Amino acid sequence: MESKTLTKKPQKSDKNVDKSFQILDLTIKRNHYRQEFLIEILHTAQEAFGYLDLDVLEYIANALKLPLSQVYGVATFYNLFSLKPSGQHNCVVCLGTACYVKGSDKLLAALEQELSIKSEETTPDQHISLRSARCLGACGIAPVVVFDGEVGEKQTVDNVLEKIKNWQQKGE
Ligand code: FES
Repeated sequence: MESKTLTKKPQKSDKNVDKSFQILDLTIKRNHYRQEFLIEILHTAQEAFGYLDLDVLEYIANALKLPLSQVYGVATFYNLFSLKPSGQHNCVVCLGTACYVKGSDKLLAALEQELSIKSEETTPDQHISLRSARCLGACGIAPVVVFDGEVGEKQTVDNVLEKIKNWQQKGE
């Protein structure tokens, strides 16, 4: 009989990490180890761990009996997934064509200057992560910036800087 025991967990002793692996295990089991649920499982893993490091991707690949390259490929293809630890707050600027022609490059430049980081980086205090995306599927309200999962429509430089300053002032 085929065993459903997952391959060995990476050696991480943190209690939160153990809990995250429990959540991941449950999700994998709930999805019956089926490869077609890879994206859903990656979503849960990102929510549980905050980001997808190589250990976690390898763990998922083993559990679903998929090549690591395929799991890694999916995780890097979608902008929703992050392979690096992200900050307390996340700001994603859409650089797809519709947003770009409406000036999203200027929004990104203003944010980079304000935060003194580049796109795909996190501030040294781990407070804010800045990312860019291709099309977020909301071209009718371009330019779009997503703040902690909340879609900001028809954004301006003033809007985005105000949002960031709000986060900085509240310090949360
Ligand atoms: S190009 Fe930005 S939402 Fe489509």
